[in-house]
Amino acid sequence: MVSEVMEENIYAPVTDTEKEFARHSLHRACQRGSAFLGSEYAILGGAMSWLSERHLVSAISNAGGFGVIACGAMSPELLEAEILATRAMTDRPFGVNLITMHPQLSELVDVCLKNSVGHIVLAGGIPPAAAIKAAKDGGAKVIAFAPALVLAKRLIKMGVDALIIEGAEAGGHIGPVSLTVLAQEILPVIREVPVFVAGGIGRGDAMVSYLDMGASGAQLGTRFAAASESIAHEKFKKAFVRGNARDAVASVQLDPRFPVIPVRGLSNEGSQQFIVHQADVINRFQSGALTREEAQLEIEHFWAGALRRAVIDGDVEHGSVMAGQSVGLVRSVQPVAEIIADLVDQALEAIVRRKRRLDADA
Ligand SMILES: Cc1cc2nc3c(=O)[nH]c(=O)nc-3n(C[C@H](O)[C@H](O)[C@H](O)COP(=O)(O)O)c2cc1C
Repeated sequence: MVSEVMEENIYAPVTDTEKEFARHSLHRACQRGSAFLGSEYAILGGAMSWLSERHLVSAISNAGGFGVIACGAMSPELLEAEILATRAMTDRPFGVNLITMHPQLSELVDVCLKNSVGHIVLAGGIPPAAAIKAAKDGGAKVIAFAPALVLAKRLIKMGVDALIIEGAEAGGHIGPVSLTVLAQEILPVIREVPVFVAGGIGRGDAMVSYLDMGASGAQLGTRFAAASESIAHEKFKKAFVRGNARDAVASVQLDPRFPVIPVRGLSNEGSQQFIVHQADVINRFQSGALTREEAQLEIEHFWAGALRRAVIDGDVEHGSVMAGQSVGLVRSVQPVAEIIADLVDQALEAIVRRKRRLDADA
């Protein structure tokens, strides 16, 4: 048993020599992920619509992570311009995230291939087999989201080269299951392809715990959204710095007949109004003033353009301030390189403390 004195020793300040030793260990644990991505660290900057453009993406890649452009609703022409502009700002690898519902998905894949994008992340549901095949035939690696073990296995059969498992703690569109549980379900089983974990990760020691469980790396979004290089409005960044974990809540659905896509963001005037709006629409449906389809559309329309309003215009009261629970770990606006250096430092300290604990037990 570790005595109180030993416990104190375990948490004593970590020396540079100890950190150097831990660096090799961290490098080994991340090797599969960083070799797959072609980056120094197996840390993906999760694509965030409106935020993950040339400045943030190049800053993440230049700092040793792996930046990912969020294509969102961009046209093929706009995406091509963004890829070229990003390439002008970094000579390191970066990826592109495409939403599978985009009506021009195959043209967007072509744009990525034409511009030698090495990694395509297909988000927003199970990707069509044709998109996976086209991307792979064109020489790109395909990454997809696995929301459950059975889907992870299916995606591997479909040919994806890596998986992201994203917990409900994450910012943006979310599934119902926490990363803690998804990781236990998927990491011990899936060894065929690298698996990256996402959702709620804000510190390097948390990353190490998932690497220990078999993850190949981590994807972070919230932690990078308020970085100095992010083009987000100053008010959006301030909301992140002020926000606590419990402020980042999932959207509320009032009536199961009218499904609401779950999105996690900071609660504000807009999220309160969304509840009132749903109640009003449901009343009008019940009184016969709206058909079911019209009512559903009115509910869905509420958030149209709302992320842009928050990120670009700075309307953090009425816009959609998508953020994960790790927003509570964002305490200042920091350059990306500093955020990554902090994550690496925390990871090294966690490895050192583990070694001290093992040595104390020996
Ligand atoms: C503001 C915001 C916008 C996002 N937009 C997208 C998106 O367009 N496509 C996507 O696949 N994921 C999107 N995400 C999810 C991130 O890529 C990432 O997986 C997630 O933020 C990781 O969890 P974390 O927020 O706890 O770090 C978004 C997240 C945030 C916070």
